[in-house]
Amino acid sequence: MDLVPEKKPNPAIKQVIGVISGKGGVGKSMVASLLAPSFAARGLKVGILDADITGPSIPRLLGIDCFRGESDGENLYPVQNEEGIKVLSINLFNENEDDPVIWRGPLLAKVIDQFWSDTIWGDLDYLIIDFPPGTSDVALTAFQTIPFSGLVVVATPQDYVTMIVRKSVNMASMLKTPVLGVVENMRTMVCPHCGAEIALFDDGSQNGAKRMELPLLASLPWRKELAQARSLRWSALSQEIKRDADRLANEVEFALTAFSPK
Ligand SMILES: Nc1ncnc2c1ncn2[C@@H]1O[C@H](COP(=O)(O)OP(=O)(O)OP(=O)(O)O)[C@@H](O)[C@H]1O
Ligand SMILES: [Mg+2]
Repeated sequence: MDLVPEKKPNPAIKQVIGVISGKGGVGKSMVASLLAPSFAARGLKVGILDADITGPSIPRLLGIDCFRGESDGENLYPVQNEEGIKVLSINLFNENEDDPVIWRGPLLAKVIDQFWSDTIWGDLDYLIIDFPPGTSDVALTAFQTIPFSGLVVVATPQDYVTMIVRKSVNMASMLKTPVLGVVENMRTMVCPHCGAEIALFDDGSQNGAKRMELPLLASLPWRKELAQARSLRWSALSQEIKRDADRLANEVEFALTAFSPK
């Protein structure tokens, strides 16, 4: 089997960034939902493709719960949130947001292909793709179909998580997709009472990024505000969170320049 078939380009989209992990629940959707508005706040045109078909979180996180996705039978049209971010997710097409998607792998993979190939995104500076956990059909189709500019890997600083995350990093490299670096999530928590930063994991001196021999893009602490947020509306986020998101966006932009053709 040819693991790296011809990818399908979309010249209207300047950069495509995948947010991956391999491990579930480490903060991929959170990172995607912080990156997107940080770019949008700079006046850039941004979209998010929610590639998590069975566990879609992006519409909620970006404050979209009353709109429906549109399709004319041939093409799909993303829905824009308050910040003008274009969002496409299976949940925009479900009658009820808690309806389960009970499909087998090949059908899930087909939806990803459709989301990429049949969506009218218009001109975008950045399309961010929020991956589901794991290295199964959906991830494989995304890697094979979409010409990623780079991947952002999210991990919590735990040894077994690093091992699992490494699987998707290795998958990306087998599929010739550049990895920009690692976002380490929740190494510390910011105490909601006194503001002190408390270590949550003790994984020795080496962080996961080092162990994976990848650059560390950002380290995001656990914050009560993020854990409790119903949605991440940029205008309502604290200065600390905006600062963390902006630093990450800067690092991603900087890392992308290293992979751009000169
Ligand atoms: N830095 C953070 N501070 C507080 N809560 C966080 C932080 N990062 C993630 N969370 C919370 O942890 C949970 C998992 O995050 P998220 O859904 O982004 O992970 P995920 O990797 O996308 O999960 P999945 O694999 O299911 O798609 C969510 O409830 C989220 O609100
Ligand atoms: Mg997710």
